[in-house]
Amino acid sequence: MKQTLKISVAAVAACLAGLVFAADDTRSMRGADVNASDGAAEVKTYVGKRPGTQAPVARTFSTQPPVIPHAVDNFDEINLETNQCLDCHGAANYKKKKAPEIGQSHFLDRDGKKLSDASARRYNCVQCHAPQVDAPPLVENTFQGDEVAAKKPAKKN
Ligand code: HEC
Ligand code: HEC
Repeated sequence: MKQTLKISVAAVAACLAGLVFAADDTRSMRGADVNASDGAAEVKTYVGKRPGTQAPVARTFSTQPPVIPHAVDNFDEINLETNQCLDCHGAANYKKKKAPEIGQSHFLDRDGKKLSDASARRYNCVQCHAPQVDAPPLVENTFQGDEVAAKKPAKKN
């Protein structure tokens, strides 16, 4: 009986020591100290200047929504009344604005019927098209793009 008690006291002590040690040394996979409070992420500024002054960013796979190469900070938020993206990229204005027209797939409604401008399914552009910041990847990544297929724009459907 006494022996058992001794063993369990030793086990508890070992666990406690383990906890203290762990608390000192535990880090997240990204190296953050788990005991430090988690502040808001740093706000990074988007890269890219006024639209019309830069080259498109190469796509890494054929069906990728192209990323936004230009600045977006000065545009109003997309809402029911305004969508500045369409003011430049929509069917009515893209030629005048010298902007690439929205993809042909953007004109189709859910029944495959062709509309005269972007379908509601494609109205919220930034749901798929992302502005860019100059930031290193959060974790190492070995993704290899399908560049051959990406060179050609996706099949218009
Ligand atoms: C003032 C006109 C203008 C506005 C507003 C605008 N764009 Fe653009 N956009 C352009 C031009 C011009 C380009 C060609 C690249 C360049 O010169 O920046 C372009 C390029 C792009 C591309 C790259 C296309 C490709 O094939 O690689 C995407 C995606 C894009 N814009 C999305 C958007 C979205 C989403 C918005 C709204 C948040 C937006 N743009 C607002 C003019 C505009
Ligand atoms: C549901 C996702 C989605 C939404 C929402 C969306 N797009 Fe796209 N966009 C894509 C994909 C995928 C492609 C590439 C394949 C294609 O053309 O359909 C693309 C292609 C484009 C291109 C390049 C077209 C070309 O022929 O090279 C432009 C410009 C563009 N989108 C602008 C916009 C704008 C502006 C909006 C908002 C009115 C928008 N997109 C909304 C997914 C989306």
